[in-house]
Amino acid sequence: MKFYIACDHAGFNIKDKVKEIVESLGHEIIDLGTNSNQRVDYPDFAHKLSLEVLKDEGSYGILICGTGIGMSLAANKHKGIRAALCHDAYTAKMARAHNDANVLCFGERVVGLGVAESIIESWCDTSFEGGRHANRVKKIEIE
Ligand code: RB5
Repeated sequence: MKFYIACDHAGFNIKDKVKEIVESLGHEIIDLGTNSNQRVDYPDFAHKLSLEVLKDEGSYGILICGTGIGMSLAANKHKGIRAALCHDAYTAKMARAHNDANVLCFGERVVGLGVAESIIESWCDTSFEGGRHANRVKKIEIE
């Protein structure tokens, strides 16, 4: 799998560890910043990452802020992005299996490193089930 990752200052402390987890699972990850604890605006990074994911068919995104909420709100403004705010392995699994989510969001201030690792493993291990879920996912978009 190919991932893009971005965070704001409130997700910066965990970003490098998340990159290591993704790489240790055998996946590629491209870092779009931010690269320090200096305050930035999370929508700038959510939009930057969403545009990359949309350009690169089949790729996925990981967005980290304090709660994951702002990142998911901003990313979901892009047609074709299905950003899921995940709190644990179960929500990550269902985001892939039922919602065909292509951007994983979580909060550094909400989940610890161990939970983040289980979220990523679960995301990578799970494929979209299609079937009855495909039409529902299609209905998410408003023309
Ligand atoms: C930054 O303080 C914080 O508001 C941001 O990281 C995020 O949690 C917003 O949803």
